[in-house]
Amino acid sequence: MVAPTAGIRECISGLLGEKGFAYIARARRLKAEGKDVISFGVGQPDIPTFDHIVEAGIDALRRRFTGYTETQGIPELRQAIADYLNERYGSDVRSDEVLVTIGTKGAAFLALAAYLRPGDEIIVPEPTYPVYSEAPKFLGAKPVYAPLKWLGPERGFALDLELIESLITPRTKAIAINNPHNPSGAIFEAKQLDRIMELAREKGLVVIVDEIYDNFIYEEGVFKSFMEYPDWRDYVVYLNGFSKTFSMTGWRVGYLVSRREVVNSLTKLAVNVWSCPPSISQAAAVAALKGDWTPVKEMIRLFKERRDVMVSELRKVPGFEVWASKGAFYEFPRVSKVLREAGLSVEEFVDYLIDKYYVVTLPGTAFPNTAGKDYVRFSFCVSKERIVEGIRRVAEAVENLLSSSRR
Ligand SMILES: Cc1ncc(COP(=O)(O)O)c(C=O)c1O
Repeated sequence: MVAPTAGIRECISGLLGEKGFAYIARARRLKAEGKDVISFGVGQPDIPTFDHIVEAGIDALRRRFTGYTETQGIPELRQAIADYLNERYGSDVRSDEVLVTIGTKGAAFLALAAYLRPGDEIIVPEPTYPVYSEAPKFLGAKPVYAPLKWLGPERGFALDLELIESLITPRTKAIAINNPHNPSGAIFEAKQLDRIMELAREKGLVVIVDEIYDNFIYEEGVFKSFMEYPDWRDYVVYLNGFSKTFSMTGWRVGYLVSRREVVNSLTKLAVNVWSCPPSISQAAAVAALKGDWTPVKEMIRLFKERRDVMVSELRKVPGFEVWASKGAFYEFPRVSKVLREAGLSVEEFVDYLIDKYYVVTLPGTAFPNTAGKDYVRFSFCVSKERIVEGIRRVAEAVENLLSSSRR
């Protein structure tokens, strides 16, 4: 007899993990062996959580603010989130329309669970952050992939609006939009987003919007938030969090904004899954939003400089097509020429960089489905000096690959 405990549901055992975590573990193993590893794999700022936020967390501990809180999140934090969004985007969010969650990923899971029934479809521009393909599968729904358009090294990536429209069927319930985009670093043009909203209105779709990188913007005036649409309550479920902007990945705080009835229902789901978000992290998150933003601004300025360094170094690598990303903290060069000449898949290429040069990157296919197969993601959460050294190694690796494949 097969052990009953082995009979786990296929909708769980069949999920893809998040490959980023597996590559981080590999980097750690190599470092433990004493290798000089340079990791461009990480999706979190290398600058630790800012002091005043840490102090607020310590203060919460000292005050013994360590019990359960409201499932929806403490009122002070929900108000701070609403104020922040309204001030920044001119929206009219009320604090009872905010649900504080365990990370933005927790918010994404709740949003997907709210709308996707078995057999439903969700349109997912790809490459995608994996929760938008995997959680729908778990829910019995189908992610319908809409690959981004590659417009070349001058113009980068765009949503393929015609394709998206053509993929809408009576089963389509939602579309997932992550902007600024992980892994491409794209910021989608406002008129593309306007069209997504028009499609939502015409076809009756929910737009699940993840703007977790909305502070990592390297060009003025290019970013439009979905909170700017006056009818957001009818079409948008908005997700964001503290992980990236305030370098708080381990504190696990995110939030979901939606019409009040949805927030009320999802609060009932949340209480049955996690009771409440961590109390200490919520206290720290209030300090993050209401405190001094100077360190955030300094971090973004530093990241822009790093992006510039990374772009100019990557452009020296033979066969790489490099567009300067506009947002998030990733470069996503197209490497198809190198892969073709060397006869490698992108995973094999990434393995080669790790095993022989101790440089960790992520294959574009870590962002399912297959649209990323010609791309490699480089995070610039690494010092400028290490960026220069790491990309120098990548250039050497590629030169060696190409010269041996030409021999
Ligand atoms: C697009 C996107 N959404 C959500 C997350 C998860 O964020 P959190 O740490 O708030 O769960 C990430 C993390 O990499 C991300 O890239």
